[in-house]
Amino acid sequence: MPFDHDSLPMRLFTASHGRAWSPGDIDFSQERSDWLALTDDERRLLVRLVAGFRLGERGVTHELAPLQIRLRHARWIEEQVFVAAQMYEEARHVQFFERWLVEALPGRFGVDIPYPDFHGDIFSARLPLAMRTLLHDDSPEALFRAVMLYHFYVEGVSAEAGYTLYHAIFERSGRFPGLERGIRLIQRDEQRHIAFGVHMLRRLLAEHHDLAGVFEDQVAVMRRFAEADPDEVLAGFQPRNTPFGLEHGSYRQSYLDKLEAMRRRVVDRSP
Ligand SMILES: [Fe+2]
Ligand SMILES: [Fe+2]
Repeated sequence: MPFDHDSLPMRLFTASHGRAWSPGDIDFSQERSDWLALTDDERRLLVRLVAGFRLGERGVTHELAPLQIRLRHARWIEEQVFVAAQMYEEARHVQFFERWLVEALPGRFGVDIPYPDFHGDIFSARLPLAMRTLLHDDSPEALFRAVMLYHFYVEGVSAEAGYTLYHAIFERSGRFPGLERGIRLIQRDEQRHIAFGVHMLRRLLAEHHDLAGVFEDQVAVMRRFAEADPDEVLAGFQPRNTPFGLEHGSYRQSYLDKLEAMRRRVVDRSP
């Protein structure tokens, strides 16, 4: 069977060709002096944010392959083609964050610039488990749960909430044009990944009506993640004295708002 070029996964795949970019083309020449102008707390928070995204992008790059294999078994060829592009794009995002941490900043990342402590288990346990289950469990429910955690939560809620912090930092400091350029390009890639995830969930819900209950259960589970996960980035900073004037309350609320927006995209078919 030839590809259905009008299908959503193929349209997203085709769109990715014209939106390719290279981390090596981004100008980091201003980042060093911008970094030197920050306070110690601002540096600590910014490295925690960027290193957290590096960790997340590495996690999603490592764990996407089982979805590719599962889609092959299902003979969902257009979705499989899209995931091939997504895997490349996730690796590109890792490269961007690593270049920023290693090349843009003065000092060695992990030596002069301490590697932050992270305590969450999403990339060490929850995501690997959900994705690797696809290697031995061919059920629609396992596929649904994997996409719920990967595309719906990690990309559609957690990363989306994180971008609000980046943009607040860029607006308030007027600094880091190279980091801002990369974040905007990554967000554009991630919009395609999230749209693909919404498509997958809608298709599975349309074909397996019993998954509607799993969806509601998973949204409830993710609401608990969304209440706990924001603490990771802002840990150690007093709410009234957070660098760049970041607000704990609005960051926490952005998680819940993104979760509700994603829920509505899947069930109400809102854009
Ligand atoms: Fe990514
Ligand atoms: Fe992504």
